[in-house]
Amino acid sequence: MNTIPGPRGWPLLGSLPDLARDLPKFWTDLASRHGTVTTFRSGTETCHLVSDPALVGDFFQHDIQSYYKGKHTQHLASVLGEGLALLNGPPWKQRRQLLQSAFDRPAVARWLDIVIAACASYVPVWDEAAAHGRPVEMMADMFRLTQTIIVRILFGRSVQHEVTTSILGAVDTLNSNMLRHLLREMVLGGWLNRWPLPSTRRFHAALATLHATIDELIARQGEGEQDKDALITFLSNARDEQTGTRLAAAQIRNELINLFLAGQETTAVALAWIIHHLTTQPDWMERIAAEADRVLGGQAPQIGDLSRLVITHRVINESLRLTPPIYGIGRRTSIDVELGSWRIPAESVVIVSPYVLHRHPAYWEAPTCFDPDRFSLGHHMSPRPRYTYFPFGGGPRRCPGRHLAMMEMLTIIAQLARRYRLHDVSGSRVVPKSGITLRPYPEVLVRLSRR
Ligand code: HEM
Repeated sequence: MNTIPGPRGWPLLGSLPDLARDLPKFWTDLASRHGTVTTFRSGTETCHLVSDPALVGDFFQHDIQSYYKGKHTQHLASVLGEGLALLNGPPWKQRRQLLQSAFDRPAVARWLDIVIAACASYVPVWDEAAAHGRPVEMMADMFRLTQTIIVRILFGRSVQHEVTTSILGAVDTLNSNMLRHLLREMVLGGWLNRWPLPSTRRFHAALATLHATIDELIARQGEGEQDKDALITFLSNARDEQTGTRLAAAQIRNELINLFLAGQETTAVALAWIIHHLTTQPDWMERIAAEADRVLGGQAPQIGDLSRLVITHRVINESLRLTPPIYGIGRRTSIDVELGSWRIPAESVVIVSPYVLHRHPAYWEAPTCFDPDRFSLGHHMSPRPRYTYFPFGGGPRRCPGRHLAMMEMLTIIAQLARRYRLHDVSGSRVVPKSGITLRPYPEVLVRLSRR
């Protein structure tokens, strides 16, 4: 087998300076210069980027046998406790089976009223901003809105205001210190994280608050009639199919924290991008507003209405194509792996990137243009290979929250379009910025006017 092509990079650093500058661009350039399987070094780590749809399919198909979630996710697990997104092997399989039914398409319908109520709570704020012509920073609003929604889905509709504030305050502190905490976890065996620095103390205090608040909710769960369909109740009652055992309280708590982190920012960022694309493409804004009027007739959506919001659906799909919140999916090889004509050694990092394939000129015409009609049924292009579009990943670890995310996005966008016209304020200044997710940067500033 031949040597895998790729840049030589700098001594010791490898390609670290380039990928730290702009990771999605670095991967895109790598794929266009070096081909479908390439290698690069990130410091001492050997990484491979795979950008051929058939090989991405192989990667997903063999995910659980040949790959695992490596060192970086284990650091995250050591901080947050393990949950579905961080587990490997048989414990992952058991947890996935246990959670599956809570997230299937019919099941997520039970949370529609939560999404509608959360939107309604924003209407007075947005109405006032519209009345005064005051711009609204939609990314911040989408963060708060999706936080309110996920708290109710996880912990129940009757969760007290103070409890919500305590959970969200703790999560904010964790999020803003997470990257630094993880970096410290990776050097000197995490010694710095045990040193009483102010930031470390803040992080541990937030984690302790979050644990105590959720543990109390677990102990009290089932008290409120409205909490019956919350995930906390589902997890407390769930039994493993084979062993019949229930999850321990700490496992339930860690799973709830993991679900919050996996599901909230991704959905908020997706919504912020959709709003950005709509405000910069007023004709699409008009089309989805007309669709909302036609399908919803001035009412909040019922679950059956969502599948009839076909244009809104297309807009969401196209936004997830052009600006996928999860822009890279990484694993570590557990054994030597053959990908096409290449052999990838055990214990190396393999990455597949929705961003790279969603914009690949071999599969998408005018890939950087926003054109939701690509997703219309009668579209003229020949069918694309399956793994040219995978905003929710693929294979056995494909996002279990995708139906919930879709229900949230359709409902929120339709509710906004029904009531307001959205006008661009930030415009061409907005660019994708890569962190844990791919965010619109610096902000999504929008002026609302009542329709
Ligand atoms: C637009 C919103 C979302 C996007 C773009 C998204 C994207 C993804 C992607 C790409 C993966 C696969 C990661 C990998 O293979 O390493 C994933 C996994 C996951 N997602 Fe989502 N997600 C979204 C919303 C949600 C929601 C709402 C939830 C639940 C509340 C959720 C929970 C999870 C979990 C638990 C996993 C790990 C699954 C496993 O490893 O078996 N996601 N998501």
